[in-house]
Amino acid sequence: MNFHNRVCQKLHEEHAAVIALMQELAQTIARCRDNAPDARNPMVAKLLSDLAAELPGEVERHFAFEEAELFSYLGEAGNQGIGAHLTYEHGIIRPIGAALVKLIGDVRAQGFDAARWAEFRRLGQQLNDCLVPHARKEDMALLPLLDDLMDPEKEMQLYEKYVEHM
Ligand SMILES: [Fe+2]
Ligand SMILES: [Fe+2]
Repeated sequence: MNFHNRVCQKLHEEHAAVIALMQELAQTIARCRDNAPDARNPMVAKLLSDLAAELPGEVERHFAFEEAELFSYLGEAGNQGIGAHLTYEHGIIRPIGAALVKLIGDVRAQGFDAARWAEFRRLGQQLNDCLVPHARKEDMALLPLLDDLMDPEKEMQLYEKYVEHM
């Protein structure tokens, strides 16, 4: 999938990155099941550090930009429904992502015990189950709409705001 609008393309690339990260997470959960892995295992440690590094950007920053700039832009163009629906989904996803990042802080300090592993599986599965369909929905519905609607001046302004001031 490729978008002409650079803001859409950037968000699409972030969706692809977070979907790949969620697939890693789901595979690790499926592989270990009831047996808590060693958090120092290189593959597990890499997953934990990728989640801790990427989720704040892929969830907090990305969602905040969509809400502040894109949903409001669509609202002004007469389409409030899609932004309201996607904002509602953000409200479900945000606390799960934040709780997982916080738990990862504990795990990196103390490792997994049975309780921390059970909590990691629960939150990780929940995050995978809501974030992947959300990102796919935006790829299919939100980004093509913006790609059609947005004029080059607005595109440049938003691209600068989101990408060049990272
Ligand atoms: Fe979103
Ligand atoms: Fe998004």
